[in-house]
Amino acid sequence: MKKDLLTFADWSKAELLSLLKLAQQTKQNPADYRKALDGKAVAALFEKPSLRTRVSFDIGINKLGGHMVYLDSQAGKLAGREDARDMGANLACWADAIVARVYSHNTLVQMAETAKVPVINALCDLYHPCQALADFLTVQEVLGDVSQCRLAYIGDGNNVSNSLLLMGAILGADIRVITPKGHEVKGQILDQAHSLAQQSGAKIVASTDLDAARGCQFLYTDTWLSMGDTTPLAEIKDKFQPFQLNRQLMDKCGADYAMHCQPAHRELEITSELIDGECSLLLQQAENRMHAQNAILISLLTAH
Ligand code: CP
Ligand code: NVA
Repeated sequence: MKKDLLTFADWSKAELLSLLKLAQQTKQNPADYRKALDGKAVAALFEKPSLRTRVSFDIGINKLGGHMVYLDSQAGKLAGREDARDMGANLACWADAIVARVYSHNTLVQMAETAKVPVINALCDLYHPCQALADFLTVQEVLGDVSQCRLAYIGDGNNVSNSLLLMGAILGADIRVITPKGHEVKGQILDQAHSLAQQSGAKIVASTDLDAARGCQFLYTDTWLSMGDTTPLAEIKDKFQPFQLNRQLMDKCGADYAMHCQPAHRELEITSELIDGECSLLLQQAENRMHAQNAILISLLTAH
């Protein structure tokens, strides 16, 4: 039976911890994994732009001895030229896995339905699971134990906040999401996070008050306008400005580390002082994208 990675919400704590361990091993001992994907091919479909995801999958797959074929949107939504179900079924005739960055989560669900090979979510409107795994790998490197993590995500309730919430809830972490009014995380995601937290002992908080971030070691932010959101920046800037990640907010919360999935918008959601400062984990997060994804690929494509 093939396994997909659409959200991680249906993965157990033990499965996530073993993925984190594998990611750490591939990072520390790359030579041991040089042939892990020998003879395997991955089709990577991108409806939206990407720097980190595209390059880290391509180079990561290469380092494991596999091959990646990149397909962009070919001047339109992928699911516009042909049905996502047909696309998934066809790609699975040649590829051993499909990595896809799409506008609508439903496109991934449809592809996964018909593709006989694993489908991996490389970002959609609701989730960014590969990012969350890289982020918790980074947290693990800093703290040693992800369940000890107190992380506040500050900004727009979006795909990145959702995946951090769900993964933190499974891993038993303390995750707080602080958003301006009107930009909260969807109720359905929060309900799911609360129900996962009941099993793991995680603490989940959603608030519009920045005081909720006090005591967190990690402050995390993301763009105020996600790809595909055509709202003019001028319309939301004043509302989001107090939520900017800056030195003052770090000090107020007693936080040690600043995180951002990137692309970052300097002096908007985060200051250059933090991006380039000692407290920045941004490049460690970016580097860990490749190791996290390599662990996902090895786990889904091989009997490792
Ligand atoms: N963090 C992230 O997914 O970056 P890209 O959009 O550049 O892939
Ligand atoms: N929330 C952002 C993440 C980019 C990696 C977006 O969807 O554009």
